[in-house]
Amino acid sequence: GAPIEVDLAPIADGQDIKVFWRGKPIYIMHRTKKQIEEARDVNVASLPDPQPDSARVKEGHDQWLVVIGICTHLGCIPIAHEGNYDGFFCPCHGSQYDSSGRIRQGPAPLNLAIPPYAFISDSKIKIG
Ligand code: FES
Repeated sequence: GAPIEVDLAPIADGQDIKVFWRGKPIYIMHRTKKQIEEARDVNVASLPDPQPDSARVKEGHDQWLVVIGICTHLGCIPIAHEGNYDGFFCPCHGSQYDSSGRIRQGPAPLNLAIPPYAFISDSKIKIG
């Protein structure tokens, strides 16, 4: 599949959109200050799949979380802005992901994957 460009300007603080890339749902979440703080304020070593928030967002653009919306348990599509961690909730078996897309609770073994993407301006990304 070809890369896609996504305009971030219409996505308000605290909102998200879902786009499709190579047939996969991609969530683009405009994180609030609170969500960013929560994502940083975690003892990384205690996580099932330990990754600092800084490894999951692009430097200088940390209000944007871009993740593949496929649960790492058995592949359902998690729901954004649900669950106990201000991130994603998978309705199939209850996995909970935080505002960095990291698995926090439930059967999923890994964090939500991050697709290859880059900022081509402050308000536009290219996925793929
Ligand atoms: Fe998401 Fe099982 S597929 S918790």
